[in-house]
Amino acid sequence: MTLIDAIKDEHDRLRSRLVLLKQEIDVWTRNGEPDYDLLHLLAQYFMRFPDEIHHKKEDHIYDALMDKGVLETEYLLRLKSEHEQMGLLTTQFSEHFDDLLAHHVSPKWTMIDKVKKFIVMQELHMADEESQFLPLARKELSVDRLNEIGAAARKALINDAARESFQELATIDSGIESHLAKKK
Ligand SMILES: [Fe+2]
Ligand SMILES: [Fe+2]
Repeated sequence: MTLIDAIKDEHDRLRSRLVLLKQEIDVWTRNGEPDYDLLHLLAQYFMRFPDEIHHKKEDHIYDALMDKGVLETEYLLRLKSEHEQMGLLTTQFSEHFDDLLAHHVSPKWTMIDKVKKFIVMQELHMADEESQFLPLARKELSVDRLNEIGAAARKALINDAARESFQELATIDSGIESHLAKKK
């Protein structure tokens, strides 16, 4: 599987998690009781997976395209800055969620607002990458070069911190799956 296919698969996975997040937030917006445990798991998932794994893979492609001096440097910089903004939004909603669980304050609407912004931004960002960034990478980088970048990305992700991340994410993921199984 090429790095581009891996990124597309991860987008599908992210989208399936966004659907769950949206469902819970819709229930909450209508003043129903969301599944707080599932929301907590999803907040952890979005705090970790995009920044610790997904964006790191994309960064390798961004850098290769920038090194090649492709014209769309501004576009690539915008994508990178969206990664930072999405990271900030997830940190904020996760902090609000911690406050909510600790019953300090009830920042429900602030949190809903941040989550909704995050969902829209994540969806637009992925659609943008699939319509422009990934086709640009396919056009500008040869299969050999993409394989090289894929190997470098994998190598960079094989370290102790990343291994710990993968294990923790697997635990979060199986927590999400077992919640879904219980709902069926
Ligand atoms: Fe991205
Ligand atoms: Fe992406």
